[in-house]
Amino acid sequence: MSERSTAGALLEALRHRCAGVALLTAADEVAPYLVDHRRLYHGQALAVALPDSTAQLSVLMAACYALDIAMVPQGGNTSYCGGATPDASGRQLVIGLARMNRVRSIDPANFSITVEAGCLLANVQRAAAEADCYFPLELGSAGSCQIGGNLSTNAGGLNVLRFGMTRALALGIEAVLPDGRVLQRLRGLRKDNTGYDLKSLLIGAEGTLGIITAATLKLWPRLRSSATAFVAVRDVAAAIALLGRLRAAAGERLNSFELLPRAAIELACRHIPDTRAPLGTESAWCVLCELASFVDEPLDELLQGALLQASEASLIQDAVLASNESQRRVFWNLREAIPEAQRRAGPGVKHDISVPVSALPAFVAEASAWVQAHVPEGTLVAYGHAGDGNLHFNINWLGPIAPAAIASQEPLIRRAIHDLVAAHGGSISAEHGIGQLKVTELQHYSSPVELDAMRAIKRALDPKGLMNPGKLLAR
Ligand code: FAD
Ligand code: MLT
Ligand code: ZN
Repeated sequence: MSERSTAGALLEALRHRCAGVALLTAADEVAPYLVDHRRLYHGQALAVALPDSTAQLSVLMAACYALDIAMVPQGGNTSYCGGATPDASGRQLVIGLARMNRVRSIDPANFSITVEAGCLLANVQRAAAEADCYFPLELGSAGSCQIGGNLSTNAGGLNVLRFGMTRALALGIEAVLPDGRVLQRLRGLRKDNTGYDLKSLLIGAEGTLGIITAATLKLWPRLRSSATAFVAVRDVAAAIALLGRLRAAAGERLNSFELLPRAAIELACRHIPDTRAPLGTESAWCVLCELASFVDEPLDELLQGALLQASEASLIQDAVLASNESQRRVFWNLREAIPEAQRRAGPGVKHDISVPVSALPAFVAEASAWVQAHVPEGTLVAYGHAGDGNLHFNINWLGPIAPAAIASQEPLIRRAIHDLVAAHGGSISAEHGIGQLKVTELQHYSSPVELDAMRAIKRALDPKGLMNPGKLLAR
């Protein structure tokens, strides 16, 4: 039998076993599912399945298991490591979660919400707000990423400093295992020590252990006051000293502490309409920080006082506080425009690294010097969640350059930056995951014991290796 007819026969068998599940096969309908957000990976698929309930997904996955069809879950397709893109074989089934997008229930007294995996993050935030509550996960992609994708990548974002990563926001989970069995642990419990934490195992697994269908998430009371500042600092060491002062002054009210280099601000202003820099100074680095409280309190005064003291200690060069919500939006729009500005500016190499916060100044100094010496034609755009020790240490080529020229340098650059990360006790993937982009890097920087344990878990839950093969772990 030819490759083509084998795929056709598989598809027929699949249709036969799960008649109710929508299966897209027309080239124009399938095309958007075959390429990742950064257009780094292009795949082929047997079809795209769009189940609309856990029961449908369970039947579909049981059929795939029986027919040995590999499955690639896909949420909003906004991730950065190619985790949701099928391989080139044309024999993998993409399973899109967009139709499973209901808010199942909200329990304000328990401060929890239960949502299906295909809910857009922005819709989870909105549903919480409608119940006078707050869901703190915040990413620039909130309007297009899904909560199932956030859980599967254990996304971080802008409020991790106070509320933690997505894993820390989950109370319970429902998932379909590779053979179609439903794992039902949608508990809204803050205390539950009944055996292994299967929820935590599925979170951050990037679709390699099963498909998350719903989750019960923590909520907080609505925020009633906030204060936001854009601050110019001399260097990264001054930024980290400022972080310490803000934590001391504001305690847990410090929601966000983002570091923006001048290069990132310039790129955003150049490429994204209606974006402007709040400060006119020539400083090399800026910090965007925000305090927030569940009670009405004068946070502007608190922030202003802390910034004044930092200024007297020569830690900051200039600062402006947002005087209203629209000015606050100007600050955040600038921050959130950076990834898209980088995408429009031209090709680049991204690194999503973390080191202990205390090591950030030394890491940035050493890694910047390496880039200057070895990639003189590249522009370093290192920005991000400095309060978490997490920077997007990206290099952009702003002038004309052949893609092949970047491709040939990329492995060397990646390894050099990651070696420095490792030397500072850091991580090569702080919040974006491994996908297919960093499989080799994960293998290189993990110990044999860690890799053995991960492979054993994979084998136990996915003995046929059908869940998102080649992602996270090598085949
Ligand atoms: P997808 O890209 O569709 O999938 C991601 C991975 O999860 C894949 O491996 C996929 O197979 C798997 N998957 C998806 N859904 C499921 C499911 N239901 N069950 C099992 N596996 C599943 N990320 C951050 O962490 N912090 C940021 O600040 C941030 N900012 C961003 C800003 C912009 C402008 C953009 C474009 C992206 C940003 N991201 C950020 C990256 C991205 O939005 C996150 O990784 C997000 O969590 C991915 O969600 P998604 O629904 O798009 O998942
Ligand atoms: C961000 O923090 O903006 C993203 O995680 C990084 C990126 O999009 O490059
Ligand atoms: Zn980020």
